[in-house]
Amino acid sequence: MHEANGKACPKFAIFASGRGSNATVLMDSFISGFNLGEVCVLVSNHADAPVLERAKERGIATVCIPHKGMPREEHDAAMFVALQEHGAEHLLLAGYMRILGSKFIQEFPGHILNIHPSLLPDFRGLRAIERQWEERVKVAGATVHEVIADVDAGTTLLQGSIEVRGDEGPEGLADRILNEVEHKIYPQAVWLLTRRMDQPSS
Ligand code: GRF
Repeated sequence: MHEANGKACPKFAIFASGRGSNATVLMDSFISGFNLGEVCVLVSNHADAPVLERAKERGIATVCIPHKGMPREEHDAAMFVALQEHGAEHLLLAGYMRILGSKFIQEFPGHILNIHPSLLPDFRGLRAIERQWEERVKVAGATVHEVIADVDAGTTLLQGSIEVRGDEGPEGLADRILNEVEHKIYPQAVWLLTRRMDQPSS
């Protein structure tokens, strides 16, 4: 871990593939000082992802490595090189729509977080919000969890929930999960992670 003014200054890479509202909230949580550390790079696999602009506006380095036509291992290896170049120690997946290979994940054991829009272990995988709506759940939410090779199955760090409104539809529910839950719990989960790093290891 790096130090700045005598304080621990962990280096985070944020991974995002699209609009990047969670990535933006995370970047701002470091800029405001709510979270201790530095976002050393924002990584995307889509050259036209709006999140790249959000990072540039904030003076954060960006790297884009499109995955199309690349075998997973090759793409993971290129990502790993870029992360090393920027000194990334911890990875925050925020709407990163590509599964990471187990070899890559093993390089960062316990240091990769992801956010998923359901109360895991329920509704793992794709279309989580639509499926919650279709199954008429009464309570929905989001989970920040550690990333392991099994998708959406790592240890939970933090969850947040809301009551589903009968008339809001899947779009309304998605909007509230994002704004009322995800944008709150992801910066808090990173705060918890950094507190955990501060604890002396036994
Ligand atoms: C969020 O719902 C997140 O839970 C899921 O992908 C979506 C990304 O949204 N993994 P955004 O790009 O952060 O706005």
